[in-house]
Formats: sequence, C-alpha cells, structure tokens
Amino acid sequence: MKALIAAGGHATRMRPITYTINKHLIPLANKPLIWHAIEKVADAGIKEIFINVNPGETEMQKCVGDGSRWGVAIRYIEQTGGPKGLAHIVKNAQPYLGEEPFLFYLGDNIALGSIREFVNEFTTRNLDCLLALSKVKNPNQFGVPEFRAGKIIRVIEKPASPPSEFAVTGIYVYSPKIFQAVSDIAPSARGEYEISDAHTWLIEHGASLGHQEITGWWKDTGRPDDLLEGNALLLNELKLSEAVNEAQTDPTAVIQNKVKIGRGTIIGPGCLIRGPVVIGENCRVENSYIGPYTSVGSGVEIINTEIEHSIVFENAKISCDQRIVDALIGKNAQVLAAERTLPRGHKLIVGDNSLVEI
Ligand code: G1P
Repeated sequence: MKALIAAGGHATRMRPITYTINKHLIPLANKPLIWHAIEKVADAGIKEIFINVNPGETEMQKCVGDGSRWGVAIRYIEQTGGPKGLAHIVKNAQPYLGEEPFLFYLGDNIALGSIREFVNEFTTRNLDCLLALSKVKNPNQFGVPEFRAGKIIRVIEKPASPPSEFAVTGIYVYSPKIFQAVSDIAPSARGEYEISDAHTWLIEHGASLGHQEITGWWKDTGRPDDLLEGNALLLNELKLSEAVNEAQTDPTAVIQNKVKIGRGTIIGPGCLIRGPVVIGENCRVENSYIGPYTSVGSGVEIINTEIEHSIVFENAKISCDQRIVDALIGKNAQVLAAERTLPRGHKLIVGDNSLVEI
C-alpha cells in the first residue's frame, strides 16, 4: 500500500509561528511534526510515501529528504493552484497513487500507538473507506459522523450542532473509488473541497465505509495550545533508553526524571532539569530550572530563568529572571531581562499576530 501525507495549507490559526515555517516542520519533542507522521506511516509497513506540499515549497524537501532515514521512498507532489481542501489533495495525487488502495494521513495529526491494525482492518473487511474516529469535547471543529443503527450515514464538516461526539481524525484508508468522490463534489461555502463531503458521497453511492475508534491519544494540532499539549504527550512517551544526557554537566546541576540532552550542550552550575524534557545540541543552560514537558531546540541559551511546559525553537536566547510557562518561543527570538534604563517598563518588539501575557 502507498501513503499520501498532507503537509501544505496556510495554517493561519498558528500565526505568527507559521509566517516563517511550514506548520508541519514545527518541532515537537525536538522532531518536526512531519517526522512523527512519517514514523507512523512507515511503522504500518508502507514503503512508498507521497507528501503533498504547497507550490514552491523547498524547506519540506530539505528537512525530510528521500525517506532513506526511515527506510521508505518519499516523493513530493505540489498541490496545483495551492491549498483548496483535503479532497483536492487526493484528486491532485491520483496520477501518482494509481488504481490501488492507499492511506491518507494528515501531517498535523499526532496519534499515540501504531496504526498497523487499522490499516490491516481495511484489507480484511474489503472496504472502500475506513475512517478513524476519536471522541472529542469540541466536535464542531472537525468532520463529524452521523450514525443510524451503528452505521455512519453522512459526515458533516465543522457542524454548528454536531450529530455525535466523534471527530473523524486525519487518518483514512481508501480504495480507488475515492477518486470518483473527490471529482464529483462541489466546493463548500468556505471554497474548499471537503474530505467530509467525499465521505458522504461514498455513502450515498453505495460504497462500503467502515469506522474504528482510536482509543489511544489523538490530536489535531490546529492551534498553538495544541502544540504544547502534543509536545507534552510526546515527551511523556520518551523511552528510558532514549533519555541520554550527552551534555557537559556541572556536578552541582540536578537532573531528574527522563531527560534527553544533545552533544555540545553545557549544563552549568545551579541548574535543575526536571523531565520529561528534551534539550538539543550546543545549548547553554545556566542557573536555570527547566521543568516538565519542555522541548529546547539546538543552539538555545537559557540563563537565570525558570521555564516549564514550553517549546523553545532553535537559537533562541532566554535570560530574564522570570518564570515562563506554556510558551512557544520562535527561532532566534530573545526574551531578556529589562536593562536598568529609564523609563522602566516592559520593552517589547513583538511581530504581527503575536501574543504576550505579562
Ligand atoms: C480537517 C478535516 C476534518 C478533520 C480534521 C482532522 O480539518 O477537514 O474533517 O476532522 O482535519 O484533523 P482541519 O484541521 O483542516 O480544520
């Protein structure tokens, strides 16, 4: 079976971070989101993967390469005309996927556990479409299935009054019948070819559609808070065997719980690092507390600061005598203590669509 991973789109809800980085390249537990998706797909035994990207994308190719890192072959498909909805991504990929079943995986979805059995179930039950469902508190933000006598009778995209408490997650397996569906549907009110409409089309045209509930953890990373939650859950999964400290660590520094620290990093005196935490290579940490559920990218400096439940991107510098929580700090960003100059006050250079809570 082949796989198609969606990794384009605008990610407007994730601004300002997504002004300068494709959402799918945002690091969670110090690994780009798309790597987590590829690992999941490769673990399901799939060897041939296509990644849908926006026209002109180059960073994705640089960051992912040809797939040899995971023992798979990866090729890229530019979405003709740019983002026009998930069903359009499938339609655009038809020439590459051919007349065979395939897995469609949204690159911004994080699921814990393997999807192997899910993929096998599609084949065993001889289906045209298998949907992974997850019970959520806010179904109105997803594609939502409506049931009658235990069967899905239609799927509604972001309904104001959800007919069930399930979200259709971004993990789907299809037979080539999906290509008829995605060619036949019309754009929705927001101008997108909705994958939910393609699912309803399949049902209305007699295709066999199955569903399976994901009982493990699943997250669609639509908003900045989702990234922090996703990061925390992935750090929770950090294996003891991966929790290796390769830093030059001062004897007075205390390291507790699962902590992974890369080469070239210096953990100086007076530090407390309480895992689960990952810290990249060539960082400098001094007189600081790095608390649970924090990911620190490579080249970062953290001095005289307490930080917890946060994601710090590469080469950021934090030195502020303050306690920082639930923060996303972008590449090369600086969070510094105020110089003792007049007038006193918070001196900020904050980019468009940023959020600062002081
Ligand atoms: C998309 C789909 C939606 C699905 C969700 C899962 O929504 O349109 O049906 O439930 O992914 O992640 P989006 O995240 O693009 O708003």
